[in-house]
Amino acid sequence: MGDSPRFALFEMQTFTSADIAGMELLARVQFATSLPGAKPISLIGTTDRDGQTNLAPFSSVVHLGSSPCLLGMISRPDLVERHTLANLTEMRAWTINHLHPEILDAAHQCSAKYPKDVSEFDATGLTIHNHPGFPAPFVQESRFRIGLELEDVIPIPINGTRLIVGRVVLVQVAEEFLMPHGGIDLVGLECLASTALDTYFKLQPLARLSHSKPDAITRRL
Ligand SMILES: Cc1cc2nc3c(=O)[nH]c(=O)nc-3n(C[C@H](O)[C@H](O)[C@H](O)COP(=O)(O)O)c2cc1C
Repeated sequence: MGDSPRFALFEMQTFTSADIAGMELLARVQFATSLPGAKPISLIGTTDRDGQTNLAPFSSVVHLGSSPCLLGMISRPDLVERHTLANLTEMRAWTINHLHPEILDAAHQCSAKYPKDVSEFDATGLTIHNHPGFPAPFVQESRFRIGLELEDVIPIPINGTRLIVGRVVLVQVAEEFLMPHGGIDLVGLECLASTALDTYFKLQPLARLSHSKPDAITRRL
């Protein structure tokens, strides 16, 4: 009898780029947006120079560096009005407001295409939290909020999207969620993750592992 496999193995189906291109539009969007796996989901808060506020859920926020502390996110092409992109370009600032289950439905509603003169704060009942001297609105109900200044907008010519690069200038979170090793307790905060444009997850802790080195076996901390 041969050794039984160490891991569960599945019969794989292979999709080529031609298969993906041939998918019906909505199925292709669902398929393509599932490819990176679960992603963070947060509400991006912006305003224009007349004080017209805006909120939109974004799942493309990514860590770009710790020194300086940089975050990036991807904006869809501006073939139609993109209020988040226009506002943060104008004011050079935006906020990231992490979600928890109680505000998920309101946050999802913010992805609807409201006209520019309708604030998603008013449309959903979420509350504006202003920080003195910072030009973009935070979501008061969010438990973990970040303020950023615009560093760069990098065009991605192949599809007209843009990588927006921001420098973290403010972080707001209750002290009880700061962990002794320096991390932030995303599980305690009940932060959410997402795939596609309609599927949301809670986080479940699995492990913290030791720093890996060629001459030492990974340990669970
Ligand atoms: C779960 C989810 C994730 C999304 N992620 C992004 C994203 O990363 N980038 C983006 O440009 N739009 C994303 N969207 C779409 C925007 O939220 C949507 O286009 C919104 O209407 C933009 O509003 P605005 O024009 O006020 O900026 C996402 C929508 C949902 C529901």
